[in-house]
Amino acid sequence: METNQEQKCVSMPRINDPAPSFKAVTTQGPINFPEDFKGSWVILFSHPADFTPVCTSEFMTFAHMEKQFNDANCKLVGLSVDGLYSHIAWLRTIKEKIVYKGMKDIEVTFPLIEDITMEVANKYGMIQPGESSTKAVRAVFFIDPKGIIRAIIYYPLSLGRNFDELHRVLIALQTADNFGIATPADWRPGDDVIVPTAGSCGTAKNRMEGKEGEMTCHDWFFCTKKLPKEKVLEALKK
Ligand code: BEZ
Repeated sequence: METNQEQKCVSMPRINDPAPSFKAVTTQGPINFPEDFKGSWVILFSHPADFTPVCTSEFMTFAHMEKQFNDANCKLVGLSVDGLYSHIAWLRTIKEKIVYKGMKDIEVTFPLIEDITMEVANKYGMIQPGESSTKAVRAVFFIDPKGIIRAIIYYPLSLGRNFDELHRVLIALQTADNFGIATPADWRPGDDVIVPTAGSCGTAKNRMEGKEGEMTCHDWFFCTKKLPKEKVLEALKK
């Protein structure tokens, strides 16, 4: 017999797993995920319900910032367990009626998935029964151009996301790929980046003696170097 602990166990995708595939109906027509998005980064995110205030503030903010994400070769795809007509009615209301923090006439042009059966939400671990068994939590999956999940963030129902942070995560992931570096706490384009840790005693010694090129070593295992903002931004366009 299964214990309570085993019954609660659901499979969830993890960092560096291929993004689980699915076909779905969206406000922009049918999609075949992630195949239709190969070659682009994608942020796949869920929200608890249409016609709710936190979600409305989030959708307006995401739509307002969409160009910034598109400029970094990233497409947005939303999901909730509501139906298509609810999605359409909600997005029409947002455009026609809602003014929030100076944003108005906001048109959401990225696809919003209908997932009444919760098939997609369950595949991505977006239903977390401790929080709600009828609504998705605020999940965010960063998926790279090869369809691999590269970062995951989950928020509870009551907490609206920080979209500057979502943009920062996207740029940091791409910059780590483009330059073979890591990014320190609170990194933003233009800040110093972290050089991979020395893998031999010789390299560690050379770094501490300043013989490994332009870098600042706080200790042998913690070296940073300059990476100008223009270089970071230029590489995002490639
Ligand atoms: C909201 O988006 O406002 C919300 C949705 C579900 C539960 C709580 C808040």
